Amino acid sequence: MRLDSLSTLNYRNLAPCTLRFPAGVTGVFGENGAGKTNLLEAAFLALTGQTDVTRLEQLVQSGETEAYVRADLESGGSLSVQEVGLGRGRRQLKQDGVRVRTGDLPRGSAVWIRPEDSELVFGPPAGRRGYLDSLLSRLSARYAEHLARYDRTVSQRNAALRGGEEWAMHVWDDALVRLGTEIMTVRRRALVRLNELAAEANTALGSHKPLTLTLQESTTPETYAADLAARRGEELSRGSTVTGPHRDDLALTLGGLAAGEYASRGEGRTVALALRRAELELLAERYGERPVLLIDDFSAELDPGRRAFLLDLAASVPQAIVTGTERAPGAALTMRAHAGRFTPEQATPEHAPVPERAEVTR
Ligand SMILES: Nc1ncnc2c1ncn2[C@@H]1O[C@H](COP(=O)(O)OP(=O)(O)OP(=O)(O)O)[C@@H](O)[C@H]1O
Ligand SMILES: [Mg+2]
Repeated sequence: MRLDSLSTLNYRNLAPCTLRFPAGVTGVFGENGAGKTNLLEAAFLALTGQTDVTRLEQLVQSGETEAYVRADLESGGSLSVQEVGLGRGRRQLKQDGVRVRTGDLPRGSAVWIRPEDSELVFGPPAGRRGYLDSLLSRLSARYAEHLARYDRTVSQRNAALRGGEEWAMHVWDDALVRLGTEIMTVRRRALVRLNELAAEANTALGSHKPLTLTLQESTTPETYAADLAARRGEELSRGSTVTGPHRDDLALTLGGLAAGEYASRGEGRTVALALRRAELELLAERYGERPVLLIDDFSAELDPGRRAFLLDLAASVPQAIVTGTERAPGAALTMRAHAGRFTPEQATPEHAPVPERAEVTR
């Protein structure tokens, strides 16, 4: 997968622009607040149609009402255009001019690595569940569909619990057990390969402590129906569904200790990096093509060895965009970010030559 160019209009602090990206690594450096993260966020949105921002208005430049991002992509020899329009809490996606839904876009097109990934390790279970669900949803449209239906069922069941509709519970329970069992089964199956890849990446990162991923389930496919029945009274009094895959955790153990409680900041970031590399490998295995890699703040919290790992990872994919407050060494193209604008630097003897096609138009 290759991002040929990215265009943005009224996106956060970014000046309207079309940036062309060469194959290989593009380094983007600049001071705090220049717009480096915003650029990667826009690229991820245009590539995948996805954002983790809940209030879409945040993405629109203050003072404006609508924003737009566009990615011109090349995949397996064919070209395509993906567009995202944002405005009034709505997101509209187009692929080659035709309205589509997020699920219709290629699922393995990008992986985004950022310092906030440490939250996967140190934050609450929802983040780790989100990582797993988002990854599995990109590996399988069926999983995405089951998960969406399961989540809807939990919300509707919660409303019924709050309304004291005990008589309706068997209907919700049937749906919950059927969908929840599918989710647990896929998670269990995927975890085997995910564990191998994460452990491999952790070792490659120079960690001597073994990394293990384990599902901490609140129930099992075999006992789900009985567990729901056993906790019916508690659920009615709390007005919420307390058992099922929406309550599960992906436990991360480093050297036999819970990483969230015992790992150092840098070790935590390393574990998160291992999870991201595993994500990249799984997507590449599934779709036979390596995603565009977006790396935000490549030097944050990392020692030189781990920085080198990140830069090697960037060099191992057909295309990567790497940001930082300093220049990423070995980039095919380096851009200086300042006040929402991105200017390519002239090639110097220490830097690789800028490929001819790399240019910026405004
Ligand atoms: N909707 C918006 N409208 C206008 N400006 C915005 C909007 N959202 C964010 N910004 C501004 O964009 C600027 C750049 O943010 P960004 O996170 O991209 O910086 P950065 O270059 O990654 O900095 P750092 O090195 O600190 O990570 C910030 O000053 C922020 O206030
Ligand atoms: Mg940033």
